[in-house]
Amino acid sequence: MKILLLGKNGQVGWELQRSLAPLGELIALDRHSTLHCGDLSFPEKLAQTVRDMRPDVVVNAAAHTAVDKAESEPELARTLNATAPAALAQAAADVGAWLVHYSTDYVFNGEGQTPWQEGDATGPLGVYGQTKLEGEQAIAGSGCKHLIFRTSWVYAARGGNFARTMLRLAQERERLTVIDDQRGAPTGADLIADVTAHAIRHVLHAQDAHLSGIYHLVAAGETSWHGYASYAIERARQIQPDAPWKVTEISPVPTSAFPTPARRPLNSRLNTQRLQNRFGLTLPNWQQGVDRLMAEIL
Ligand SMILES: NC(=O)c1ccc[n+]([C@@H]2O[C@H](COP(=O)([O-])OP(=O)(O)OC[C@H]3O[C@@H](n4cnc5c(N)ncnc54)[C@H](OP(=O)(O)O)[C@@H]3O)[C@@H](O)[C@H]2O)c1
Repeated sequence: MKILLLGKNGQVGWELQRSLAPLGELIALDRHSTLHCGDLSFPEKLAQTVRDMRPDVVVNAAAHTAVDKAESEPELARTLNATAPAALAQAAADVGAWLVHYSTDYVFNGEGQTPWQEGDATGPLGVYGQTKLEGEQAIAGSGCKHLIFRTSWVYAARGGNFARTMLRLAQERERLTVIDDQRGAPTGADLIADVTAHAIRHVLHAQDAHLSGIYHLVAAGETSWHGYASYAIERARQIQPDAPWKVTEISPVPTSAFPTPARRPLNSRLNTQRLQNRFGLTLPNWQQGVDRLMAEIL
């Protein structure tokens, strides 16, 4: 099996390099790759890469992920999140490859309390969510076999992340204020990558194009950013009781306390039943992944 991976150095892309390696020949590109184009800014060249390589599976982990910045550069966001996936999908259809792509809870408007299902009406609040939605629609409309995994609140041990920032602040300040009215599930890039590898094996083994579609892929359970920060700091204090912890109070605040260019959905809960049922998988609780993250970064 030949797999083409795009965005190999992002949070998810990095973990995919590990999880996809045992499946077959893995060609991993980023935007700087020279032999073949892996730059989403050039959708047609990207499509040519697919046509030249004729992989069995294309996995696109690259995207314009800077949610606030997207508000001021909508054209670039649209090229990377919609036009490039559309070109990839067309090329995948031409060579008969599966396309694996990632999308986001930000395609929803965040109303209500119920976990969103795949078929629920979308209503993005900003450019990032809108362009990611356009990418989904282009892929679905292309006729290529595809798996689109919508995920949320992604973290990885490598590079900066929310938990690491909270741990730093907990050693710098006595009082932290953290948003408490957005709810979702922190999801490890390692979990997303492992589920992706399972799903690819499954669809190729089953030779079942009916598995093509959108799936919600997040860790089980739910929390707020405040709950996430509190849990991470508590775990860190248990692991390193002698570190110079300064924080004595973690106060919950509403989203309005931190104005940002892009609006965020309050309800980011995603229902994962379809993924679990169709692929025979069980998604672990979000705390399990955060425990591992703490053990890795401390
Ligand atoms: N992060 C989240 O919380 C979150 C939530 C929901 C869904 N998602 C989705 O999950 C997927 C993976 O996200 P992630 O968290 O792994 O994102 P990430 O860490 O920001 O990685 C995105 C990758 O895309 C690459 N990229 C940016 N512009 C590019 C271009 N023109 N050509 C090629 N590559 C380019 C970046 O490369 P450089 O490093 O060179 O910039 C980076 O490696 C994305 O589809 C994202 O929309 C993420």
